[in-house]
Formats: sequence, structure tokens, C-alpha cells
Amino acid sequence: MGIYLITCLVMTIISIKDVSCWGDITNTTSFTLQYEKPECLQFPLETQPRLLASGGPTNPYNRSFDSLRLPMLGMLEDPTIKILFDIQDGIRYVLQTKNEYTLVYHGTGVMGMSGVLDNLIEPGDKVLVGVIGFWSDVGARNAERFGANVIRMEKPIGSRFSLREIEAGIKQHRPKILYLVNGESSTGVYQPLEGIGNLCHKYDCITIIDVVATVGQQPLKMDEDKIDVVFMNSQKGLGGIVGLSPVSYSPRAMSKVRRRRSLPRILQTDINAQAEAWFITKPIESKHEVYVHSLSVTLLYSLREGLARVAEEGIENVWNRHADTHRYVHFRATKIGLEPFVANPEDRLEGISIFVTPPGKDAFKIEKYMLEKFRIEISPGLVTTLGKVIRIGLIGNNANRETAARLMDALEIALNSTETNS
Ligand SMILES: *Cc1c(COP(=O)(O)O)cnc(C)c1O
Ligand SMILES: *[C@@H]1O[C@H](CO)[C@@H](O)[C@H](O)[C@H]1NC(C)=O
Ligand SMILES: *[C@@H]1O[C@H](CO)[C@@H](O)[C@H](O)[C@H]1NC(C)=O
Ligand SMILES: *[C@@H]1O[C@H](CO)[C@@H](O)[C@H](O)[C@H]1NC(C)=O
Repeated sequence: MGIYLITCLVMTIISIKDVSCWGDITNTTSFTLQYEKPECLQFPLETQPRLLASGGPTNPYNRSFDSLRLPMLGMLEDPTIKILFDIQDGIRYVLQTKNEYTLVYHGTGVMGMSGVLDNLIEPGDKVLVGVIGFWSDVGARNAERFGANVIRMEKPIGSRFSLREIEAGIKQHRPKILYLVNGESSTGVYQPLEGIGNLCHKYDCITIIDVVATVGQQPLKMDEDKIDVVFMNSQKGLGGIVGLSPVSYSPRAMSKVRRRRSLPRILQTDINAQAEAWFITKPIESKHEVYVHSLSVTLLYSLREGLARVAEEGIENVWNRHADTHRYVHFRATKIGLEPFVANPEDRLEGISIFVTPPGKDAFKIEKYMLEKFRIEISPGLVTTLGKVIRIGLIGNNANRETAARLMDALEIALNSTETNS
């Protein structure tokens, strides 16, 4: 018996793969379970393909989705660390910035929002928020959670601020931070950023911009427009998988962070901790000394590949492809008498197009019909616009005329059907 075990041990050590000499697997302990295993888990998961056109999440770029099956690397291996640098460069490229503090938080876009607010707000700081829909309202309420003195500047649903209105707001309230949403996806409104950075330089405030619904879709020039902080997510214009939130902080924003008297409240999104973990302020040699949390190596693959796909096409071509798809959707919509929700064409977001639910029609029934008959997911609006509109997002991988044609053909049939009557 002793010799037998020693032989097994030697075989295992010298890596002869046959482990059968260890004998039959035996149960050493018998457990009595209080609860049985769930019956629903005995079947493998099955799903059907969909065209995801509700405004996000969208169907990822193939290159991004396929990367999820690449072999797993360890979190601190050199090839993984190279992925971190590739992603930083990719994010800087799509934002057109040289900001050193450009990295990715684990969590969705809302995590990025919380993270940047937490790093920039010190209790009592005055934050002026331009509220034009659901997402800007979330920004205002979220800033309050971090102790900000929030001042809301509001415009009716479907419109946006002029530069003059923003300047008037800043002059009146003299905020430390100006918070705006570049693409208010709940109402389909585009808020231009030209001139905003200059205003904040003039009146000494920091700009925080939600670019979730514009990055990888519409032109962004973070450095040229002198924007201080932006956050986004991985699954819209960057064509990846839900779960990551890239952020970028300007040197001006970092100098406000450095003057803080208290630490940010969330450890996971502390920009200084993350800048070490992303090897921006620490050398790679110190990799065993910094640990904020585990990295989702697979999600990082998919983000890296989404960014690589965008870079392969060229960001300016990606912007044009979204603009072209947007024009095509509106052309088809006009032909079937759909009324755009945003009156002024220049105020319209390009990744997401919103139309008024036609009289006598039910947006929820249209949504259901599109999904059941055509496996196309559209949205009947979001919170303030719920039921009043048909919301179509053709973003990233789906922003092309072929996909738009397929969707608009289906929508025409759905609108003609009596099954979608209210
Ligand atoms: C989608 C969206 C968000 C939220 O992003 P999540 O990844 O879902 O957390 C925030 N702001 C805007 C403008 C969005 O369109
Ligand atoms: C171990 O226990 C399980 C569950 O009771 C049983 O199905 C299995 O046959 C046991 N294996 C051995 C080797 O006894
Ligand atoms: C993406 O992959 C799917 C499934 O493999 C395939 O049908 C489709 O043609 C691919 N799209 C592109 C643009 O390559
Ligand atoms: C929808 O109805 C209009 C008006 O009756 C008709 O001209 C059009 O061809 C119909 N479209 C489809 C796809 O059935």
C-alpha cells in the first residue's frame, strides 16, 4: 500500500496525467441538505438572437463579443497589463484627449457617474446641473448623495440649453462644478459642448459631462472643448459588453481632487487608488503592492476589442456612420408619417431617434409586436417619455443602413397592424 501511494505521488509529480491509481472517488462526508437544488437550473440556458435597438445595451461588435471566449489570463500577467494600457490609449483616442488619468471603473455607466461625482464633490460644494430629462435628473439626485449643494437649471422635455443660458446660470450661482448630459437619451436630445469649457475656465468651475450616449457615436473633442471630466459605459457606442465604465479626468480636475480635505467615500472608484492599479502613477514593477479589487479580465478583453474595432474603422468614420444611419431612419420615418419627438433637427441625438407615438397607437403594443414578430427590441420611452414615444437606438454595431432598413420595414408593418391599436 505504501509503495503504491509513493508510486502515485511520483507519477503525479512527474506529471504523468493518469491519476486513476488514486482509486475510486469516495464521499468522505455525507451532507444532509435543508433545501433541494432548484429545478429550474437543470436545463442549460438557451437564447434566441435579437436586434437590440432600444437605446442600449446594443448588440456588441463581433470582435468584442467573440473575445469573451479567448483563454483567461491571470490578472497581473504582463499581457493583461498591456490590455490596460491598450484600453487607456483607446479611450483617449475616442475622446480625443491626452488626459493621463484615463481608466476604467468596474460597474456600469451609473457607477462611473457616482465615481466622478464622489471624487470631485466635497460636502457643501455647489453643483449646477442642467436638467433636460431622466439622466440629468439622475445626475442631480446622485450629486446630492455626495453632499453637494445642488442647483437645478431646468428646460422642458425635448429641448436643451443655449450657451447663453448656461453662462447666465453659472454667473448667477457661481458653482464649483457644472454637470451636463451631452446626449440625453431619455428624450433624444443632444446638448452641444462647444464653448462650455471656456465658460468654466472663465468662471473657475469644473465640468462633468455624461457622454454615455454620445461616445463612439457623435463627435467628442474633450481637449479642444476643454472638458474636465467625462464618464461613459462599455456597451453603447464602444460596442462592448455591459459592466465597465471608462472615465477621464483632466489635469484641472485632478488638481481639485488633490486639494480635497477628505477622502472620496467609495474606495472602488477612488481615482488615486485606481490610477495606481492602472499603472498610471505606479510602475509595473510594483504590481504586487497595489490591489483595489479584482479585474474582470474577460470584460476588459471585450472593451479592448470594441475600441480596437472603432480604431480600425477610424473614429471619424464611426461618427459619420451614425449620422448617416440617423438621417436614413428619419427619412423612412417621414415617409410613414412619424413625427420626431425633438422638434429642432440640430438638437437631435444621432444614436437614438425618438418619435411621437401615433394617435390611436399603443407604444407598449408596438414594442411587443416588434419583439414577437421580428425579434427586434425597441423601447416605448423612458420614465418621463414612457408610452408617449417610440424610441429607436441604432448604436455601434447596429448603426448601418442595412440594419436600419430591416428595422424600419418591420416598424412600418407593426404600425399598419390593428394589433398595435390602443
Ligand atoms: C445608458 C445611459 C446611462 C446609464 O448607463 P448604464 O451603463 O446603464 O449604467 C447614463 N447616462 C446616459 C445618458 C445613458 O444613455
Ligand atoms: C457520493 O454521494 C452521492 C450522493 O449521495 C452518490 O450519488 C454517489 O454515488 C456517491 N459516490 C460514491 C463513490 O459513493
Ligand atoms: C457577426 O457574427 C454573426 C454571427 O456569427 C454573423 O452572422 C454576422 O455576419 C457577423 N457580422 C459581421 C459584420 O461580421
Ligand atoms: C402600410 O399602410 C399604408 C397605407 O395603407 C400602405 O401604403 C403601405 O404600403 C403599408 N405598408 C406595409 C409594409 O404594409
